[in-house]
Amino acid sequence: MELLNVFDYEAEAGRRLEPGAHGYYAGGAGDELTLRDNVAAYGRWLLRPRVLVDVDGCSTATTVLGQKLSMPLAIAPVAFQRVAHPDGEVGMAKAARSVGTAMCLSTLSTSTPAEVASTEALRWFQLYVFRDEGVTRDLVAQATDNGFCALVLTVDTPVLGRRERDFRTGFTIPPEITVASLGSGGVTPLEAFSLMSPSITWLDVERLASESKLPVLVKGVLTAEDARLACEHGASGIVVSNHGGRQLDGVAATIDALPEVVAAVDGRVEVLLDGGIRRGADVVKALALGARAVLAGRPPLWGLVVDGEAGAQRVLELLRDEIRLALQLIGCASPADVKRAHVARREA
Ligand code: FNR
Ligand code: LAC
Repeated sequence: MELLNVFDYEAEAGRRLEPGAHGYYAGGAGDELTLRDNVAAYGRWLLRPRVLVDVDGCSTATTVLGQKLSMPLAIAPVAFQRVAHPDGEVGMAKAARSVGTAMCLSTLSTSTPAEVASTEALRWFQLYVFRDEGVTRDLVAQATDNGFCALVLTVDTPVLGRRERDFRTGFTIPPEITVASLGSGGVTPLEAFSLMSPSITWLDVERLASESKLPVLVKGVLTAEDARLACEHGASGIVVSNHGGRQLDGVAATIDALPEVVAAVDGRVEVLLDGGIRRGADVVKALALGARAVLAGRPPLWGLVVDGEAGAQRVLELLRDEIRLALQLIGCASPADVKRAHVARREA
């Protein structure tokens, strides 16, 4: 059976992965309320199409932080991709390059920043802050030296969420999988988690933004209060994210948190969003509510599981085609044409 959309890839990946790895990738924290709501919430927003607009030659291309992307969707940082497929992060980066979008590489990657740089994909580096400042500084240097264009500082993970699927299956990332960017030979996943700092504060954001040559995006903001603080502490962008429902269960779906963040930011920095994007129409709803672009975590990961680099590329192409179709059918010739009036909240 041909895999036609992200849900088909999700189901096929579920058949291929052993239960432990599947639970790690698919699962969320606690009762997984937020995990499910991230997806369901798009159904609470309705598109308001405008007709009789010339959409011949519609382009999905856009820019994020001044960088050109073929579509308003890039690849979210996802840890340990070689557990999904031997192609790992390098395969994912090649897929990004083929499709003309950016890939955000996780700190907890099974390939080094240098290896990912060799693909020549447009690349951002997701940063976790470590207890040892030297480790964090070395990661930033690796990103800068290897042509990464942005730092994506994840701020919703001072400690790891409680993922009960992993307890039930007994899954841990295999110890032979090493975090390639840490130390000379890499460190084991368990060590890496123990080295991460639970003491990260806005001062770290400010210091990183002022010391680094790269723009800093703060990933994991869900409130107007924190959106304002991010602007005040030197962030160049915000990623509205709840870590794919993997950290604090019971928080808002990201598409529902987006409007208050966009209002608080008031145009000062670019706002991105991730969580639950499964269809091109979801992307268009996020644009209408003020996102510059979105990131997708699990969708390209399911592609990677099913068919390595080629599978990830296929999922990205499917999403790009769906975005174009959704733009055309709401009467927009480009992402910039999408306005707030293109969505309405569904009546309860
Ligand atoms: C993640 N995410 C994540 N985020 C981050 O900043 N650093 C990381 O290392 C990881 N690792 C990770 C592993 C796995 C298996 C998943 C599913 C997610 C979160 C990710 O960047 C993103 O916020 C969510 O995946 C977005 O939700 P969707 O697109 O998966 O619904
Ligand atoms: C996760 C961490 C590694 O979500 O970010 O699994």
